[in-house]
Amino acid sequence: MHENQFDPQILDKIHLLQEKFKASGQDMLSYLEGLLYADYLTYWEYINLDVLLALQQPKTSFKDEKIFIIYHQITELYFKLIISEMEQIADEKPLSQDFFKNRLERILMYLDHLISSFAMMWKGMEREQFLKFRMSLLPSSGFQSAQYREIELMATDAFHLIEFKSRADFDYHSPTDDIFEHLYWQQGAIELATGEKTLTLKNFELKYGKKLKDLIENYRRKNLWQRYMELEKPETELTELMKQLDLKANVFWPLAHYKSAVRYLQRDPVDIAATGGTNWQKYLPPRFQKVIFFPELWTEKEKEEWGKGWVVKEIFGED
Ligand code: HEM
Repeated sequence: MHENQFDPQILDKIHLLQEKFKASGQDMLSYLEGLLYADYLTYWEYINLDVLLALQQPKTSFKDEKIFIIYHQITELYFKLIISEMEQIADEKPLSQDFFKNRLERILMYLDHLISSFAMMWKGMEREQFLKFRMSLLPSSGFQSAQYREIELMATDAFHLIEFKSRADFDYHSPTDDIFEHLYWQQGAIELATGEKTLTLKNFELKYGKKLKDLIENYRRKNLWQRYMELEKPETELTELMKQLDLKANVFWPLAHYKSAVRYLQRDPVDIAATGGTNWQKYLPPRFQKVIFFPELWTEKEKEEWGKGWVVKEIFGED
């Protein structure tokens, strides 16, 4: 090929580029000049590494506080991945069972990572350090994780997330404001002595209340459960994945988390108060809350026993 001749493949690409720019009324020459001066992309810019590594700002000088911050951030990133998969299931039209299963499998994989890595919390920090630095974090709490609430509200009809004792009084048609006030976590963060919402909850509602109510409305017809119900004949394999999701999200993750609370906050004779002010011994264990995304997929006995066997064996070391 002569020195001044272009490789035909390059010419092809130039033609394609020309069509692209022409279609949007852009001047290709200016873009080519831009390319000439543009720097090569680097790894650190692409993933925004400097920003990412600047996001760990401990409130105290206890070294283990950094672990606490980073693990929360890791968890929030996994939550973001889970939400992204849930959005895809919600918006896919038409929704094939293969697509549904594939996205559920990804969600389960993320949850598996979260469940097994929780050991970083329950055995990865010095208790003495934790008990000190946590006092500088009042009244914040993981309770205020909006993405955790989003995952719940995108998974199922919101009335399934009502506090256990009044759950039967609500159904698909209950108004959003009414449902919102009775969500299990709203009731979990009410001070027993005064009947008032904790400051942790008030701050959370101020920032995210509107967004979460909008989400309840938007997902009434497209949460995972509704999309599953739309299917004429769900495959057994898909149903099994839905049940796995229910167990991992509502039994195994909460128990891995609860194990941390027990490890750091359990003390005889009086347990240590949580930063978010809940009665955590009664609030966190799945056997009390009985949050179940897909109750229709479980037998009465399974619902009755929700979270029981594992808690006793894993946390208290009994059979
Ligand atoms: C040593 C580690 C941890 C301890 C001791 C702990 C303790 C607690 C306690 C006591 C609560 C009840 C609310 C309150 O009164 O504050 C709570 C709620 C919560 N925490 Fe943690 N936590 C830990 C780590 C984490 C991590 C790493 C995450 C990840 C984001 C997280 C997310 C949550 C969530 C989502 C709730 C609300 C759960 C619900 O409403 O059912 N926690 N935590």
